[in-house]
Amino acid sequence: MGRLLPAILFAFALVAFAIGCANEKKQGIAEGEEWFKSYCTPCHGENGDGQSQIAGMMETPPKNLRQIAQRRNGQFPDAEISKIIAGVENVPGHSTTDMPAWWDTFKKAEGITDEKILQEKIDHITAYLKTIQE
Ligand code: HEC
Repeated sequence: MGRLLPAILFAFALVAFAIGCANEKKQGIAEGEEWFKSYCTPCHGENGDGQSQIAGMMETPPKNLRQIAQRRNGQFPDAEISKIIAGVENVPGHSTTDMPAWWDTFKKAEGITDEKILQEKIDHITAYLKTIQE
């Protein structure tokens, strides 16, 4: 009986921790969505499907971001997508494209100097994109 209480408390702590993690993840995705709406929809469209006002005027059409996984055999490559957004990954076509590199833009526009935080913000956008895959 003496061991039951600590076990119960431990179980509660675990559950609280899991809920905390889930909340943090949810907040990250919500923030990613906000950033997406601020920075990405002009080209990629309100819902990310690539249908935007200016899409038709662009030489390289913005990609449908709801089909990132579809274009890769159903796999959503988190790290690669974060790199594409940051502009680090030299994906074929990307060095010369109309897809901007966001690393420096976010640094200036959001006034973020801590690169770890900057990476987190980009990962949040990636996490949001993952939720809108078809
Ligand atoms: C000025 C227009 C423009 C804006 C704004 C823009 N993009 Fe793009 N994006 C493009 C274009 C054009 C492509 C396609 C590039 C190519 O095909 O080489 C692209 C491609 C991508 C890809 C690659 C998709 C894949 O399957 O390989 C991702 C991911 C992406 N954009 C994310 C974003 C995010 C996130 C934002 C906002 C932070 C954003 N884009 C803002 C024009 C834009």
